[in-house]
Amino acid sequence: MPSSSPRPKIAYHRPSIDTREAALATSALATAGGFGPYLLQVEAELRRRTGAAGVLGMSSATHGLESILWALGIGPGDEVIVPAYGFPSTAACVLRQRGRIIFADCLPDDPQIDPASVAARMTARTKAVIVIHYGGLPADLDRLLAATTSRGIALVEDAAHSIDASFRGRALGTFGRAGVLSFHASKNLSCGEGGALLSNDLDLLRRVDQFRHMGTDRGAMLRGEASSYTWRSEGTSFLPSELAMAVLVAQLERGERVRARRVQVFARYSEALRGLPGLVLPTVPPGASHNGHIFHVVLPSGAMREKLQGHLANLGIEATRHYQSLDRTPMGSTLDAGGKGENPHAEALAERLLRLPIHAELSDSEVDFVCDSVRRFFR
Ligand SMILES: Cc1ncc(COP(=O)(O)O)c(C=O)c1O
Repeated sequence: MPSSSPRPKIAYHRPSIDTREAALATSALATAGGFGPYLLQVEAELRRRTGAAGVLGMSSATHGLESILWALGIGPGDEVIVPAYGFPSTAACVLRQRGRIIFADCLPDDPQIDPASVAARMTARTKAVIVIHYGGLPADLDRLLAATTSRGIALVEDAAHSIDASFRGRALGTFGRAGVLSFHASKNLSCGEGGALLSNDLDLLRRVDQFRHMGTDRGAMLRGEASSYTWRSEGTSFLPSELAMAVLVAQLERGERVRARRVQVFARYSEALRGLPGLVLPTVPPGASHNGHIFHVVLPSGAMREKLQGHLANLGIEATRHYQSLDRTPMGSTLDAGGKGENPHAEALAERLLRLPIHAELSDSEVDFVCDSVRRFFR
């Protein structure tokens, strides 16, 4: 007999949060300070995990990107190449510095930035290239580093998706001049809103530390490196709260379990969905150790994407689209035409990419139900 109760919804994302987060947050409330032991613990743990020479906790990855472009001295007229298939923060940080956004296209049926498109859009005014490691999988770092370093252009890594993901044993976010991680609620590890900035450039880190501290060297004083502080540069307040950092300490403790389970889910999808006609699955480049942040599929057409999303929704499965091509957004369309170029692959993905549910709390039977539902759609 058919059951009358609705099938339980399989959410696209569910954070893994337990009593440890609550306990540490309660202890942080006792001090409720801005800069404190939990921030220092997060920074030390991220240095250990990523191997970066320095890590600065930030109030968000967006604020990390803004800080990097400020510290790199990007100014009016400087061109910064960013992914057309990307998140608004990755481009908006350029406008904060009054720089000029130049979009680069992604690869065909693949959300990673196309190094050939990046190279084709470089000019004498290009000062930086920001890349996204989509889904915790590495962009083509060999070609991007070769194209940027030979011309003295800063490579900035938007590794917002990439906590605990690496390429040839080195953490994503540590290959370029600087990188950012995000701990927003939608990410593998979350403290609601939060981020971190990674760099091996100690001078850049010192400038950002001042920038996030209202332009002062108060950070040096709080770390015991100076006896007082003063106003030294432009600045703002991009420090994360101790409350958020306490939650993040607990999240980092469970990070390996979260990563391992998400990678299992990713592998289960890859295995079960292989060979469906016209369906393109994500590829894991050789040398990549990823974190299962996203499992996306690319449909042959936008109409099929709509139908598959609707079919899954009817079965209680939440599958979600992702980025728009940023040059086609209301804000992107106000930018000068020269910066936009043609980004046909990004436009195609905006129409045809769909993300399947992925998180550490998904059971094998739920993943199998999603796979069976996708396969049934193709029959
Ligand atoms: C690629 C990318 N960059 C930046 C961000 C912004 O991160 P945050 O919310 O920590 O500012 C996101 C958030 O989803 C993202 O996906």
